[in-house]
Amino acid sequence: MADLSVNVCGVTLKNPVIPASGTFGFGREFNELYDISCLGGVATKGLTLKPRLGNPVPRIAEGQSVILNAVGLQNPGVEAFLENDLAWLKQKTRVLANVAGSTIEDYAEICARLDGLVDFVELNISCPNVRCGGMAFGIRPETIEEVTRAAKKSLANTPLIVKLSPNVESIVLNAQAAERGGADCISLVNTFTGMVIDIEKRKPLLANTTGGVSGAGIKPIAVRMVYEASRAVHIPVIGMGGIRTAEDAVEFLMAGAAAVQVGTHNFTDTFACPKIIAGLNDWCDRHGVSHVSALTGALQ
Ligand SMILES: Cc1cc2nc3c(=O)[nH]c(=O)nc-3n(C[C@H](O)[C@H](O)[C@H](O)COP(=O)(O)O)c2cc1C
Repeated sequence: MADLSVNVCGVTLKNPVIPASGTFGFGREFNELYDISCLGGVATKGLTLKPRLGNPVPRIAEGQSVILNAVGLQNPGVEAFLENDLAWLKQKTRVLANVAGSTIEDYAEICARLDGLVDFVELNISCPNVRCGGMAFGIRPETIEEVTRAAKKSLANTPLIVKLSPNVESIVLNAQAAERGGADCISLVNTFTGMVIDIEKRKPLLANTTGGVSGAGIKPIAVRMVYEASRAVHIPVIGMGGIRTAEDAVEFLMAGAAAVQVGTHNFTDTFACPKIIAGLNDWCDRHGVSHVSALTGALQ
């Protein structure tokens, strides 16, 4: 049995596998099928100050080895999360509260509300689906630094993860901007902006026209970005993008990630995360690795 525990910003996770934001709700539905206390943590659906209904349907479309989503941050709002879900989720596993806003003040306010109550705040500055929303923050280094600084100011007691968009000119400059702004950790990648067309109707498949591309097909690009970002900063990195197997997770760890998130594959296999955790243990045993944390950045 390998030691699968990892330390991220001084917080111990029992293993490095975390379901990604927006693909796991707040964990309740999955917990009916397996005990989610086996997970390293849970990244919640993106929370906003006020409840949101999200975008019109259809808002999910399938591509080859990928899906596109334009859910548009449907969520019950931060107060409902605090009231109904946090206590339950906290006694199961580590909680990464994923948050989004349309102004710097929104981000600061929601962080202040969560400070000291969750294990991490994960700042979604990259959601490509909300008009006039998160996207603007996540593209340019200057705005990334500014929103990170504002969030960090509101978080005296909780480590801040800044989740980076891949739809950018330089992932390295953006990772460094988050670090300069005071991020304790970065996570990447969020979804790639894409589009699919129903050629019979001559219309986009998504009501929103464009959506975020995720799933197996994005993995090599995500691995490259995790590799580049992790070498450019001195803070831990959480990697994601297309992970389906323990071997995929090992790839991200070797590229420089301290932990990984699994998103889209939760939809194709409900038991994706526990299978990856078991697979990581087997992989470590087969390769004589006693601590999974030794794989972080172990690329030769
Ligand atoms: C349906 C759906 C909803 C998502 N919602 C969020 C969200 O609310 N906040 C966020 O930061 N990322 C969100 N994401 C992005 C994922 O957390 C993850 O970064 C991305 O899907 C890449 O990982 P994957 O290829 O394993 O899915 C969402 C992804 C999907 C597919």
